[in-house]
Amino acid sequence: MRQSPSWLPVSVSFPPSRPRRPRLRRASSPSRLPPLHISSLRRRRSLVCRCIAFVAGLFAVLLVVALFGAEETHWAPSFRDSTLIFGRENLQRIWKWEIESGHYPSIAKIPERLGFTSTLFNPAVPPARAHTLVSPFTPPSDPAITQARGYGPQRIYRIPQADTPMDIAYPPRPLPGSTADLDIILEQCNFAPNDGKYVRDCLEFLRLGANLDNGRRVRKGIPDEWSYVFHETDTLAAPPPTPSTPTALKGSRLFPTGEPISNAGLVKKRGAAWEPLLDLSPPQVPKSLSNTCDPENPRIFHMFWAGPFTEKPYASLLSFLFTQRLDLHLNVEESTSVCRPQVWLWINPGPAASVPNPTAVDDMYASLKSNPWSTLFLHPRFNDVIKFKLWNTTEQLDAVPELRHEWRNMGSLFKSGGYVVNMPAGKVHNAHDEGDDNSMFNRAGSKSPTSYDRLSVILSDMVRFILCHRFGGIYLDADTLFLRDWEELWGWKGAFAYRWSYHDAYNTAVLRMNKNSALGSFLFRTAVKNGLDFHPMSISKYLDDAHLQSLLFRVPDALFDPAWLNTEGYQLDRPPAPFFTEFSDFFDTPAVDSAAPQVVGFDGFFRGAFSYHFHNFWSKPFDPSRNWPDLGPRFAESARAARAAARPNDDPDDWNDKVYDDKQDLDWSAVLKRTFEAYVRGERPNMYGEWLRW
Ligand SMILES: *[C@@H]1O[C@H](CO)[C@@H](O)[C@H](O)[C@H]1NC(C)=O
Repeated sequence: MRQSPSWLPVSVSFPPSRPRRPRLRRASSPSRLPPLHISSLRRRRSLVCRCIAFVAGLFAVLLVVALFGAEETHWAPSFRDSTLIFGRENLQRIWKWEIESGHYPSIAKIPERLGFTSTLFNPAVPPARAHTLVSPFTPPSDPAITQARGYGPQRIYRIPQADTPMDIAYPPRPLPGSTADLDIILEQCNFAPNDGKYVRDCLEFLRLGANLDNGRRVRKGIPDEWSYVFHETDTLAAPPPTPSTPTALKGSRLFPTGEPISNAGLVKKRGAAWEPLLDLSPPQVPKSLSNTCDPENPRIFHMFWAGPFTEKPYASLLSFLFTQRLDLHLNVEESTSVCRPQVWLWINPGPAASVPNPTAVDDMYASLKSNPWSTLFLHPRFNDVIKFKLWNTTEQLDAVPELRHEWRNMGSLFKSGGYVVNMPAGKVHNAHDEGDDNSMFNRAGSKSPTSYDRLSVILSDMVRFILCHRFGGIYLDADTLFLRDWEELWGWKGAFAYRWSYHDAYNTAVLRMNKNSALGSFLFRTAVKNGLDFHPMSISKYLDDAHLQSLLFRVPDALFDPAWLNTEGYQLDRPPAPFFTEFSDFFDTPAVDSAAPQVVGFDGFFRGAFSYHFHNFWSKPFDPSRNWPDLGPRFAESARAARAAARPNDDPDDWNDKVYDDKQDLDWSAVLKRTFEAYVRGERPNMYGEWLRW
């Protein structure tokens, strides 16, 4: 029953309301409906009646099938029409720009529909790889070019067994410049309902290839296909091609009509005009071949938070400190050359941001300072790696050239998944106009808490694209925990998001994009013409309609959301560890399984995955029996108030930790929180064996 593919996605959400996953309504099994109706008919009814009933039953079956059966391809009625507003010349320019900028390290084919007829040169792929993968069965009269010619540095794939473990208690950090080959990962990890890869196997492959099983290896004879981490040599494998002399493909026909640039074969959005030629900057040709550190593109993890800071972003930030290469085990003066990642946590103060307020930033810091869950992160030790930023919608929308001139005139700023959120159209949105009840911010905030939640969800769908387009980097939903170093993902220069469970669509809870990219321009312009809809399903549709899906790599769920397929009823026969059938199992681990968290701890939690996405549960505390930041004497003052609030009946002068006050079986969420806190208190090193130095 759980494996039934008949699901209907209804809506999604973000902090702080419902879990960010499709709320799926199960369609009743169509085959069972009609017999029920027919059997209930009394026998003495006439033949005519029975015929009518039969026809009605048949119709019901067809209706149910039509509504739910075709669900895999149709998400919502409004998605049926094309969203495309870019013609072939523009689409070719976007592809070319991304490839020439080194943003296409993949060997996935360029869709034939784009109709490229001259060779594209790809600096992000070495020559041999691209060529070996051209199918030998491609007919010589192939009408269009579907493969770029690589001229990039050679890749040296690391053999997992080659590294001798030196310190067997902890895994080694990935070497700077390591890159995960997402093509190989896709091959090993992609899920298909009947013939897919198991998350369990994918996680083993991910662990072994990165030596995360260091010192604990029990496998022998690791296959070559499991090497997915590579380094690039410092030299180009071939001289860069001269852009002025593109090699025309010999004997090719021009696709598909014989016209050099024709929009034939592309389905334009109804009623829209083709966009003029995109104004693209020159391609960002990679300056340095070594992947390690590019000052132009700092490694920024963006997160977005609305409302008071809670233990959810607290746990996310702690997991960041616990896993990423921040060099917090070195003295402050021992500066290193590694490219340290940073978190930029964007705080949305909600409706208040609409009013010009010179003290807004100070107010934000004051509230973070007084909040026990956030005060830790203001410690000077973390200044370089955790930054709080005030989110200001007006300022942000104005900073995106593709939106700047139009967003104020848009009737439906808050459209999501094809549905316009109730809001009067045609008004000018003036953020500075305090008294204007129609200002976007008033609509986004002041009506009711529920409408605010909904709008903040929709806003957050757009926020991630603005941040990645404007600053570059990786956006993560704030209900995400880091589980390992992301070095190998920073090495992959292409844009990516992950897969929406078993569907052929994206989830943007993790989103990587390059700064000011052609892909970003495409998405913003397309969104402007489609009601500023940034719902992940709409993003999938935009890219689909434009044959650009391969430019946003769709990473298998196992890497970022390893419990998702189980919670959707898939792979219950061979689940990964731990086995969650519901996302709430993370917070309320079922008693039969709850010996594991304490015994295996962080190391046994989806080992191999890059992150765990716990899908909201904003009201469920991580650690109900110790619901305060337990960070030791250094932060005793802030914890005091929180502890007093969590245990109002205890006498603060008699705060001894008694085991019988604690929960007997600790849930996964509590064990992870306490593990991270032990690292901050200096009682244990982080995941890689590094002790925090203050
Ligand atoms: C938000 O940005 C707008 C436009 O840049 C500015 O006028 C306004 O003062 C800002 N609001 C706050 C709270 O800083």
